[in-house]
Amino acid sequence: MIVKSLKLINFRNYEKAELSFSPKTNILLGNNAAGKTNILEALYALSLGRSYKNKDKEMIENEKDYLKINALVELKDREDSITFVAAKEGKKVFVNEREITKLSEFIGHLNTVLFSPEDLLLLKNGPQEKRKLMDMSLLQISKQYVEDYQAFKKQLKLRNDYLKYLYPKTKENDDIEDDMLDILTMNFIDCNKRIFIARNTFLKNLEAITDKKYRELSGSIETITFEYIVNFENDIAFYKEKYKSDITQGSTQFGCHRDDIIFKKNGQDFEANASQGEGRMLALSIKLALAEMIEKMKREAPVMLLDDVFSELDKNHQNRLLSMLSTSMQTIITTTDILKIGKPALENAKIFTVTAGRIKETNYGRNQ
Ligand SMILES: Nc1ncnc2c1ncn2[C@@H]1O[C@H](COP(=O)(O)OP(=O)(O)O)[C@@H](O)[C@H]1O
Ligand SMILES: [Mg+2]
Repeated sequence: MIVKSLKLINFRNYEKAELSFSPKTNILLGNNAAGKTNILEALYALSLGRSYKNKDKEMIENEKDYLKINALVELKDREDSITFVAAKEGKKVFVNEREITKLSEFIGHLNTVLFSPEDLLLLKNGPQEKRKLMDMSLLQISKQYVEDYQAFKKQLKLRNDYLKYLYPKTKENDDIEDDMLDILTMNFIDCNKRIFIARNTFLKNLEAITDKKYRELSGSIETITFEYIVNFENDIAFYKEKYKSDITQGSTQFGCHRDDIIFKKNGQDFEANASQGEGRMLALSIKLALAEMIEKMKREAPVMLLDDVFSELDKNHQNRLLSMLSTSMQTIITTTDILKIGKPALENAKIFTVTAGRIKETNYGRNQ
């Protein structure tokens, strides 16, 4: 799929912006804090119906009371107009001017794979980033996951709220016999099961493709594997043993919200000893694998959003990466320095300069 054009109103540092993209490579060039990443975030919001950074309403330009993002997306057999509007009170999403009330029906009209500097934290920042990787990917791939994930979050909150409610009523030596907690726990287990099955299948697929991509991108002969650290248990008795400590902590100690992944190179834990370069290769390989999965499942290539990473690669790796992107893939690359982008990427690229919330097409760099 191809994003033909993008319109922004009151989005972050853009009061009004309009741009039309090339179906191939697009380069957003500008100094720090100019607004390059904001453009990618806007596309991502159309893709997942939410910000990947913080609360939706924080994307509204300061002092304004709403924002609007609209894109025309070209698919093999049609063209869709996709709109995301957010105000302080909430958000609304539209496809071809029709409001979509279920998020699961909205996600998937625009598929993007974002590679951002934060992805390098995958190896450093602990399990939260890894769950985010699984969730953000699955949300795009599976409508069912959107619903299961929402249900899971809701059940977890209900159970945690109830644990907090029970806390003052529970004495140190009491045995916990509580029908309501049993029911909430069974519902929670049920929701966990769906999340676990989806993540497990997803990770097996992703692992196999990432392994291949890593070798292709790095030119090495190493093997990449994932170990899924599962926090799913089907048995209520298991949870009952933890009732007391759950109540004391006021939160559910065990479940998919505590899942983790360990990345391995040649069977060894990769996290402790990967170099920065290797970390970047791994993160990029995962994103390339994700793009391939999305393309297979949706029969449309996703749009690749490469934030500040392309220019961090040496020319050799840039070329490898370019050759690995499927020929039908549209890419949007941000950089502060056009000289860091090699010739092959520049050749057919549309270049935009971004300056303090203004964006315009330019020929700059083309004759270098
Ligand atoms: N809600 C907002 N309203 C106005 N400006 C914002 C808002 N959120 C972020 N910004 C501004 O956007 C700029 C950062 O844009 P960003 O796209 O991250 O820059 P970069 O070009 O470095 O990627 C900063 O100047 C920041 O103050
Ligand atoms: Mg940026």
